[in-house]
Amino acid sequence: MNYDHSETNSTAAPCVMTICGAAGDLTKRKLIPALCNLAEEKLLPEQFAVVGFSADDFTTESFRKNLMQEIPKFAVSPIAPQLLDWMCQRTYYVKGDFQDADAYQRLEQQIAEADRKYHTAGNRLFYLAVAPRFFSTIAKMLALCCLSKEEDGHWARVVVEKPFGHDLASAKQLNQDLRQVLTEKQIYRIDHYLGKETVQNVMVFRFSNNIIEPLWNRNYVDHVQITAAETVGVEHRGGFYETAGALRDMVPNHLFQLLTMTAMEPPISFDADEVRNKQAEVLHAIQPLTPEEVLTNTVRGQYGSGIVEGQRVPGYGSEPAVALDSNTETFVALKLLIDNWRWAGVPFYLRTGKRLARRVTEIVIQFRRTPFVLFRNTSVRNLETNRLVIHIQPEEGISLGFGAKVPGSIMKLGLVNMDFDYSTYFGMEHSTGYERLLRDCMAGDATLFQRADMVEAGWSVIQPILDVWHALPARGFPNYAAGSWGPIEADELLQKDGRAWRRIGEEELDKRGRIAPPATPEKTGIVT
Ligand code: BG6
Repeated sequence: MNYDHSETNSTAAPCVMTICGAAGDLTKRKLIPALCNLAEEKLLPEQFAVVGFSADDFTTESFRKNLMQEIPKFAVSPIAPQLLDWMCQRTYYVKGDFQDADAYQRLEQQIAEADRKYHTAGNRLFYLAVAPRFFSTIAKMLALCCLSKEEDGHWARVVVEKPFGHDLASAKQLNQDLRQVLTEKQIYRIDHYLGKETVQNVMVFRFSNNIIEPLWNRNYVDHVQITAAETVGVEHRGGFYETAGALRDMVPNHLFQLLTMTAMEPPISFDADEVRNKQAEVLHAIQPLTPEEVLTNTVRGQYGSGIVEGQRVPGYGSEPAVALDSNTETFVALKLLIDNWRWAGVPFYLRTGKRLARRVTEIVIQFRRTPFVLFRNTSVRNLETNRLVIHIQPEEGISLGFGAKVPGSIMKLGLVNMDFDYSTYFGMEHSTGYERLLRDCMAGDATLFQRADMVEAGWSVIQPILDVWHALPARGFPNYAAGSWGPIEADELLQKDGRAWRRIGEEELDKRGRIAPPATPEKTGIVT
């Protein structure tokens, strides 16, 4: 093969990566493509091999053949055939049941053989791309068969995919099971949101810009909005989703990652524990909701049929594996308060949902209004407020809305935008979002991975909501049409505070660069 593989300083450490559940979608959609992208960037060493491990009926030969056929169909960006071939040639397969000790013996032999052939220094990475019910079993079996034992300077790490439990008690149990057989340093709890470039940029943006950080507090910020809106429905995951719902599926993990990155104090270094300590502090400072507050500060919704991106789509109750009268929520909006010196009194509004009007994830920092006094004797009626939007996806970038004088002889103000767009500035990268995370596991950098205490702190915030929602099952579902922005109560959640969600996609600039007036003039100010 003619693929040039020269290494760089950032190249990951040698290892054999075992993918438990290798026959599933994640392997061909994300993991192997991400490894190929890392290899292309010279971030994966020559001393590297993959072992696929699962109960499906493959041999090494047929598994390789399957990857060669399937990956070009599934990978989000094209992969050079010689690169894929390079990867497949160092990929092996072991068939086995996750509960069968013999299967782990075979796995051990295969890993040892790959280690000898590719000089991987005895380092082992186990990626658990399996249903959560297997997490504890696999971790136990790996320990029992000495596969996760670290000795003579070799490392062994285990990557766990969300969900980390389905409530506080089960999250604690999972952490306990894992820690019985692994040290916390060996466990990498992956949240793919942290693989997104713009999420990582939140910290850099805040802490590398001296004009930003002094304003990042209750003195200047009116409120924060975090939106993760999807246009897709539950797709083929109805069975799983019925037991999860939007709150469990998105909030204690992805949305809380965005929230903690936005709200954390500056760490003293980029050391994994320094950063994660600061994130954990934020989670601990979120005021737990009382049962009364759950009723007033949370909104749940479920989509009915509607039109999404020009297509008529069915309601949630008609999706495969979903009960017709299901009361599982596909939308959630929350108002949370962070009880600390920096954020006291500044609401954080979170919303996420399926089958919404647009696919968009963003963080909005809405600043307070300046004093009006200067404009009292002009025709300006209201002052627009500054708004910083961190666009996570699909657009990646940052925009800052600020007031400017509209040219002309009378005093008129307009809100104009200063935009930074990642792709225009840096060009597009081939990325599945898993590259950085996989490289970091191999390099032993746990900064972007959740620690046990963070997982539990996140669930502690969610648990009171789960309790009240369980005691008072939702009535009146479906309560929003597919293709809308969710139930009306989500708008009311902000309206009763005199605020409004940013009208994503509706803010057209007029000829003079002004943004159309926002929904609630009294709070956010109208441009006259
Ligand atoms: C997953 C959720 O963790 O994240 C899915 O289980 C959701 O329900 C997905 O669709 C969203 O991720 P992304 O990267 O597409 O925003």
